[in-house]
Amino acid sequence: MEIKSTLPQFICRFRLALYILGNCKCIIYSIKVYLYGAFLIMSRKYMNGKWCVRCGKDVPTPYLKKNTKLFPEKGKVLDIGCGNGRNSRYMMGLGYKVDPIDMANDFGVKCVLGKDPLPNKKYDILLANYILMFLDGDVRFKVMGEMHSRAKKNSILMMEMYPAKDAYEYNFNNMVDYFLNKGWIKIRKSKDRCILEKTNE
Ligand SMILES: C[S@@+](CC[C@H](N)C(=O)[O-])C[C@H]1O[C@@H](n2cnc3c(N)ncnc32)[C@H](O)[C@@H]1O
Repeated sequence: MEIKSTLPQFICRFRLALYILGNCKCIIYSIKVYLYGAFLIMSRKYMNGKWCVRCGKDVPTPYLKKNTKLFPEKGKVLDIGCGNGRNSRYMMGLGYKVDPIDMANDFGVKCVLGKDPLPNKKYDILLANYILMFLDGDVRFKVMGEMHSRAKKNSILMMEMYPAKDAYEYNFNNMVDYFLNKGWIKIRKSKDRCILEKTNE
């Protein structure tokens, strides 16, 4: 028996195809939402009373890599809020002695900034990459005061900021001015990053 495809049959099949396609899109969308959710959970950790961004990258920040040439050739480095230690490991690889500190126990020594004081040593280089915006205003300036006191004459300070979703508000120019008023000078500065040098003891 010959089966002829009539127009209603064709419309019916077309609708069925659209329905299946629609469902596939829905499934793909759900998978994407699920993966994004998993990524957010993995890249955040609940610590010290709030969710904190985790950096999963394994390479140093491009700003650090690009500007290492401005650092003293040898010396002690304090990596403040070292995260997974990507910058600490990079600096260790270049021969520096590094003290990595963070409130998470992924890498380095546990230190909750604002509660625990910075190590009582003097450093040649202080790294504060993507950390100070996670401290609220008063704590941030308290920690910046500690950073100033842990720096030797001619120490270099690198700060990088980013207005992350979980971050507190900040005014980067005020932060830089804080150090300039304490005798530091600008080596490099852009909107959210800078390299400063301490000119006094
Ligand atoms: C975005 S990660 C940056 C890590 C690293 N500096 C980098 O560039 O890869 C921010 C880090 O700050 C740490 N952190 C946030 N608040 C802190 C606090 N109050 N005391 C110590 N570490 C803190 C978090 O644990 C996290 O590892």
